[in-house]
Amino acid sequence: MPRPHIEPFVELNDGYKKFRLIGFTGADYKVLSLDTDTGACSLKVRFNNGFARKPGLSYSDMEMFVLGGEMQVGDDIIGEGHYMFVPAGVAIPAINVADGCEALVFYDDSEPDYEESDHHHDLALRAGYISLNSYQDTPWSGGSIVSPSVATGCMIKLLRFDPLTEAMTFLYCMTPEFMQDNISYHDCGEESYHIWGTSWMMQFGELPTGGYFWRPPYINHGSFRSKLGCIAIGRTDSKLHNYFHFNPWTNPNENLHRAASMLYRQRPQLFKWVAAEGGHNHPHGPSGQLAAAPHDFEHPEYLDDPQVDMLNKQVMRFLQADRSGHHHHHHDDD
Ligand SMILES: [Fe+2]
Repeated sequence: MPRPHIEPFVELNDGYKKFRLIGFTGADYKVLSLDTDTGACSLKVRFNNGFARKPGLSYSDMEMFVLGGEMQVGDDIIGEGHYMFVPAGVAIPAINVADGCEALVFYDDSEPDYEESDHHHDLALRAGYISLNSYQDTPWSGGSIVSPSVATGCMIKLLRFDPLTEAMTFLYCMTPEFMQDNISYHDCGEESYHIWGTSWMMQFGELPTGGYFWRPPYINHGSFRSKLGCIAIGRTDSKLHNYFHFNPWTNPNENLHRAASMLYRQRPQLFKWVAAEGGHNHPHGPSGQLAAAPHDFEHPEYLDDPQVDMLNKQVMRFLQADRSGHHHHHHDDD
């Protein structure tokens, strides 16, 4: 099962468990979220005094954010605020922890694993490796690097951006007395851990230091407040688009339909191609009855809009021509 909606969860209330996997003994963990199909997970890990591990790699992409203490990785000492993205198959040097270290550790593709190795796997995407101190080595940007934007007063440090999926890992902060009065949802899964401070959302109340959520797509969140400010690390699993609105009663299915209706209006070619399921890329597929236009709870009459109507009629004709073209090809091949 993909990760369920976990919100709010405050890990500081829970105890650690002993890590017993090879490469992790000497560390303790708490599970923040877990995909029970793949083993992908987000953990808080305490590396105890004397933790030591030889150089090695994982078969999953791994991300780590150091919350406190220090860790020696090869010749480097990394500490509070350090962020690493280690692609699957990239070997990292020996790790030694002299005096305790706490970190968030994310395995994106599978359960935590470790294989001793002093060289990278041949297929590893070495160029994807990232290691920086997020507090010292990179500046804050406006939240408007994502548009439509969160309110001013919520800022972002982009730590990782996947050019294929547009998945992101980032720090964000809210100024004291931050407020945003609308409701948001996204097409992506969204995850956050509050490093320090408290923020408030209408649906979920206050999320304090140590607060965490894993939120599947299309779930309403907001409005937002932060009395004294906060700093958090966030991740998405694909493109983060802020769908804003002011209706607190919609459910995720209605939100999804509204998002699809935007695709219908704004990218009609793409919508039709996607909606003609099975018919567009296989000669024996169902020959493409087009899905009905999705309902938009904010604009229930949008189909009457002449521009929307015209664009979609054009697409319909284009698709019919395309489909007869497909049939020709198929018969010619026979
Ligand atoms: Fe969000």
